[in-house]
Amino acid sequence: MNEQKQYQRLRAPRGTAIVCKGWHQEAALRMLLNNLDPEVAEKPEELIVYGGTGRAARNWRCLQAIIQCLKELENDETLLIQSGKPVGVFKTFSSAPRVIIANSNLVPHWATKTYFDELEAAGLIMFGQMTAGSWIYIGTQGILQGTHQTFVTAGIKHFGTGDLAGRLVVSGGLGGMSGAQPLAATMANATYLGAEVDPKRIERRLASKKPRYLDERIDDLDRAIDAALDAKNHRQTKSIAWCGNVVDLLRRLKERNVTPDLLTDQTSAHDELNGYVPTGITFEEALELRRRDPDEYRRRSYQTMAEHVRLMLDLQARGAITFDYGNNLRGKAIEGGFLKEEEIRTPGKIGSWKYPGFVPAYIRPLFCRGMGPFRWVALSGEPEDILETDRIVMELFPDNTPLLNWLKKAENEVPFQGLPARICWLGYGERDRVGLAFNQAVREGRIKAPIVIGRDHLDTGSVASPNRETEAMLDGSDAIADWPLLNAMLNVASGASWVSIHSGGGVGIGYSVHAGQVIVCDGSLATEERIRRVLTNDPGTGICRHADAGYEEAKTVARTWKIKIPLIDG
Ligand SMILES: NC(=O)c1ccc[n+]([C@@H]2O[C@H](COP(=O)([O-])OP(=O)(O)OC[C@H]3O[C@@H](n4cnc5c(N)ncnc54)[C@H](O)[C@@H]3O)[C@@H](O)[C@H]2O)c1
Repeated sequence: MNEQKQYQRLRAPRGTAIVCKGWHQEAALRMLLNNLDPEVAEKPEELIVYGGTGRAARNWRCLQAIIQCLKELENDETLLIQSGKPVGVFKTFSSAPRVIIANSNLVPHWATKTYFDELEAAGLIMFGQMTAGSWIYIGTQGILQGTHQTFVTAGIKHFGTGDLAGRLVVSGGLGGMSGAQPLAATMANATYLGAEVDPKRIERRLASKKPRYLDERIDDLDRAIDAALDAKNHRQTKSIAWCGNVVDLLRRLKERNVTPDLLTDQTSAHDELNGYVPTGITFEEALELRRRDPDEYRRRSYQTMAEHVRLMLDLQARGAITFDYGNNLRGKAIEGGFLKEEEIRTPGKIGSWKYPGFVPAYIRPLFCRGMGPFRWVALSGEPEDILETDRIVMELFPDNTPLLNWLKKAENEVPFQGLPARICWLGYGERDRVGLAFNQAVREGRIKAPIVIGRDHLDTGSVASPNRETEAMLDGSDAIADWPLLNAMLNVASGASWVSIHSGGGVGIGYSVHAGQVIVCDGSLATEERIRRVLTNDPGTGICRHADAGYEEAKTVARTWKIKIPLIDG
């Protein structure tokens, strides 16, 4: 069967009968296939899940081999995946991870995007993004709550309210993650105006149901701006996409003297060749140039990024609250050579950006509490199983009003993609309770099949990413990458079901090192201790990381929970 046909058949098995020799392998298999389900993945025909070229397997042959390995894998064996290719199976322990994954890692001196592209073209490496190559992507919902919280927190910080009625949010991108922005903004009652060059991505967001991720597409630029201003002035909750380059949108906003209230960007700027699209040519011409003359494409792409950053600075100077949204646009614009470093930060001074990243601006206090996007998936495929897990979480945290509100909103407003899943931000001392309660519910048959629990690599303890998660750390330790490695090794030692170490996720090759973990609640008593340890230790490394950097909030959390941090007082 040709690849075009194969991808249409990619879908995780549902139900309680398994094709593997245990639920941990079965879960890995279902999550791998779920990542590639056409309902979930952005470009399943290329094995691309989201985030530019974030893949779940290196190629079709590797995908078939991984599936076969998982089916044959014994309950005391561990499968090794090197950048989307299965490379070995070893005897380990029944409580060891069934799969260990390393994606996109290069020795630091050689960790450039150009060299990575050469190796990728030679079929030797794959870009795993964050949850694509670590098999725990759940579609656009995976970023929705975080994006919504970021907009609300920005509102509270800058306008004194998280209700964004009468406020205009402007951004770029409507892909896997960026496609959450319009709904995240309208959930906070804002008016949203975004640019997306690829009409297919706009149509995909318009086609989503219950409700739509996007309200309206307007192809005339001035009409799109007029409609957004009209909605803002009438305090109307509405999202509008203009099909075109975000730089052209920002240029026109500047010319017309229109200042957004919140301004950010989530185009795939981390990848100047296969993600970001240059201005001055049509989308089709850009795709053709990408194939025909990659060097010229890169040059134009970097040039556009420089203009993009300058326009963001101009609009910021006019009063727009401006922040980087984790795609490394600022860093890539400098890298390309068309933007002087001093235009956007103090030369040579890490973290000194003229407009901040979203983590130092809004998220770091949550990281100090071990909080971050925590997610789970019902392997049965039954939406009722997720509704049961929602009930369990609500019962566990009856006083956490924002959490209860989110879960109710998610039940009513967020469509499932692929296997039913849920996301919410939980911290240290909370995740283990949820995991154990889910495991008990599986054991008692209240949930029909096991639940997989994982998290994003946008995380408190498992990421070193100086232009994102670890931007502007208190002690200047932004680029120290020991932490994600410690996190991954601790997750292996704690008995996670699969563990991964990646590079380049979010911000591009050479800019980040990060780790992921997944634990399967299979209902057994044997797994209980593993669930407790993984879901305690994993966020625990975030508390250690932030306490070590000198954050008082993290030290307080460590003392409250009696986390042993030997030199906590310096
Ligand atoms: N903030 C976060 O938490 C977070 C999380 C995950 C990913 N990211 C980063 O955000 C970016 C977007 O992720 P994604 O999953 O949506 O990627 P994606 O590749 O699925 O979507 C990006 C979209 O941007 C569009 N685009 C590219 N250049 C454009 C331009 N100049 N003007 C208008 N549209 C343009 C593309 O057509 C594409 O649809 C990536 O860089 C990713 O690494 C951020």
